[in-house]
Amino acid sequence: MPKIPPVKGTRDFYPAEMAIRNWIAQGWREVSQRNGFVEYDGPIFEYLQLYTQKSGDEIVSQLFSIPDRAARDGRDLAIRPEITPTLARMVNQQINALPRPIKWFSIPRLCRAERPQRGRLREFFQWNIDIIGSDSVLADAESIFTAIDYLRSLGLKASDVVARISSRSMLAELLMALGFAREDLDKIYVLLDKRPKMTESEFSKYAAEQISDADLLDKMMRLEAVQSLDELEPMLQSDAARKGYADLCELFKTLKALGVGDYCEFDIKIVRGLAYYTGPVFEIFDRGKSLRALCGGGRYDNLLSSMGGPQVPATGFGMGDVVLELLLAEKGLLRSEASHLDFFVINADTELDDKMLMAVSRLRSQGYATAFSYKKTGVGKQFKQAAAQNARHTIVMGRETIESNQITLKNMADGSQKELSLDKFLENPEEIPNS
Ligand code: HAM
Repeated sequence: MPKIPPVKGTRDFYPAEMAIRNWIAQGWREVSQRNGFVEYDGPIFEYLQLYTQKSGDEIVSQLFSIPDRAARDGRDLAIRPEITPTLARMVNQQINALPRPIKWFSIPRLCRAERPQRGRLREFFQWNIDIIGSDSVLADAESIFTAIDYLRSLGLKASDVVARISSRSMLAELLMALGFAREDLDKIYVLLDKRPKMTESEFSKYAAEQISDADLLDKMMRLEAVQSLDELEPMLQSDAARKGYADLCELFKTLKALGVGDYCEFDIKIVRGLAYYTGPVFEIFDRGKSLRALCGGGRYDNLLSSMGGPQVPATGFGMGDVVLELLLAEKGLLRSEASHLDFFVINADTELDDKMLMAVSRLRSQGYATAFSYKKTGVGKQFKQAAAQNARHTIVMGRETIESNQITLKNMADGSQKELSLDKFLENPEEIPNS
């Protein structure tokens, strides 16, 4: 029988990979909590319709959909490609009972039927931070700050990563002032979103295919080349454009006050691929630009109402584990959750099996991670096994344990050892003299 390989674009988490995944998730949890977010989760699949309504064509084309054989209504299901629609659905369900602003985080496992490539898989984990119920720029700033706070805590500097920020509402106004119709905007967003993944000439060709009017194309290309917020000021023609611009300036000011200004830059090409964003939007990239986006998010003030709830403003982001891990490995900053045993019990005499198992069981019941060898091998081999399992201490039990209840306790870090009574030791292993 040929072996069945893992599915392309998925990962097996052997203990070494699992320890890395746990370390990443632990960092996400810590930073979420210290910024005032509480954890939630939802189901791994939803009605397909939840995504086809509002997420936009790109994500719909990447859905793993499944027929629901048990359903009477024949509605198809889909594995979640993102958790934002689930979050909106859940919040809508309890909107009146939840104190606002709602500051929630989650670390869902997501699936997208993308073509697997460097930094993009078909199954991944994504840290989500969302603030629902506030239209204040402070909420956008706090969301962006939380992403940077995490990256900074890992040792990534402003010279390593950058949050590129813009505003969809402001861009919409600028484009309409140039002569684009409102119904053409989605097409332009998709165009701009694809810009970083294309060379200059590929982009020019693609843009010309999308915008047939030569004058509009020229104006769009000039707007796309804008480098700073200042350059935009003379182009603001409507109150809505001025409001979008003022909000963006306020956002940069707030991020500066929060101490992360040097991690943030304006970039007019940031529009986000998902359809539901309405205001400030951002993506975080490595400065080396060798990787895809680490993180992306923004304001989505109409998603809850478009899903049958009240008009409640919201902002947030998602950060995947795949690009993050690549970048951390590149920078030598990747760590894993430390695993160790408190005790490894070494059996040096076949007659003491029951006594040894009693000692193992008493240590475990007191909360100490304890292991022993199943095989009756030599003491040297058992010591090797203890070291391989990262045991802090070994306890050698043998003839003297049977005869006078004595054990030898060894500190594996410094090699020091001590003879002591098994009963005394089991009464209070905490006070081990050579720990
Ligand atoms: P997104 O831009 O689709 O946004 O994904 C955010 C991040 O998830 C990406 O920057 C990337 O790190 C990671 N990611 C996305 N697709 C893949 C993939 N196929 N393989 C590995 N990593 C991937 C959203 O999902 C929004 N729902 C985020 C959000 C939350 N907006 C507001 N709140």
